[in-house]
Amino acid sequence: MKITRKEMLEWLQSENPLDADELFRIADRIRYEFVGDEVHLRGLVEFSNYCSRSCRYCGIAATSRDVQRYRMSQAEILACAREIKKLNYGTIVLQSGEDWGVDTAWVAELLRMIKGETGLAITLSLGEREPKEFEEWFAAGADRYLLRFETSNQELYAKIHPNLENKVSDRFAILRSLRKIGYEIGSGVMVGIPGQSYEDLVNDLLMFKKLDLDMIGIGPYIAAPGTPLSSNQELRQIVSATVSMACKVVALARIVCPKSNIPSTTALATLEGASGRLQGLSCGANVLMPNVTPEQYRRLYAIYPDKTALNEEEENFSLAEWLESFGRKQGQGRGDSVNILERMA
Ligand code: 5AD
Repeated sequence: MKITRKEMLEWLQSENPLDADELFRIADRIRYEFVGDEVHLRGLVEFSNYCSRSCRYCGIAATSRDVQRYRMSQAEILACAREIKKLNYGTIVLQSGEDWGVDTAWVAELLRMIKGETGLAITLSLGEREPKEFEEWFAAGADRYLLRFETSNQELYAKIHPNLENKVSDRFAILRSLRKIGYEIGSGVMVGIPGQSYEDLVNDLLMFKKLDLDMIGIGPYIAAPGTPLSSNQELRQIVSATVSMACKVVALARIVCPKSNIPSTTALATLEGASGRLQGLSCGANVLMPNVTPEQYRRLYAIYPDKTALNEEEENFSLAEWLESFGRKQGQGRGDSVNILERMA
């Protein structure tokens, strides 16, 4: 479906809930048409909360001094992979802060073990690492990489995501290089960042298309106590950081990139529990990423507050039933993006 910049702006800016409902219906139909009723489940393992970056919005930034840091062992991560396999999810997502204490060979070895034992599809989300590492990890069995660009407004990005001392952050370049290596690539943005405009969001959506993303993660910005952005006086709140606004962006992402895998994100569930999760799935999303990080670590991976609102342990066993209660079904197999399947054909 063709959609213009102006139309996107109008959908985003409309305050009429009937408009939102219509947008969600359109996106839901396109979702059904292009990726069907299957909801692919990815088991998320947050294996290290060490981070060398100082992102202004993030609760586990290096600058957050009060955080108790942890790094899981290979054996602990492997146990999570077995759990994911048992739950019949097709994918493990390995996520961490940008932790340079996690070295290239350690990750490669871990990937070989997971792949060898479980055959799961593997998604990495480890931040802005080096091209050589991406190659080595791909060779060791990684299939996909997630790296949100957070906002396409470069001025705002620079304010909320400071560069490392001798390295400029260019996430678009990294995403392109990942694609070249052969990864399925995922990116995304936060909605309602202070200083973000509606035009910025439209540019974000057009960037999703330009990058030809396989995966698109969109969630509301949630102020994390103690972070610089949560107490900032300089940037004005223009776009509201709500479930309904984030869902509009999800819906437009589905329209712009009909074949992408789009999760109903944790941030949606954090604000409104199971209802937030359901709203995401009803306006274009076709993926869920249940958290399987062991409890004692999960509570320390506090990128924003109340991230553990859903009792996922209980829920992991009934997700299939929950999905069926509103006419969807648990995805079978790896749940690769239709995009990449066609690209390889
Ligand atoms: N609110 C919402 N999302 C956040 N993220 C990080 N901090 C926050 C926050 N305070 C998101 C970023 C990051 C992803 C892992 O989590 O988009 O890429």
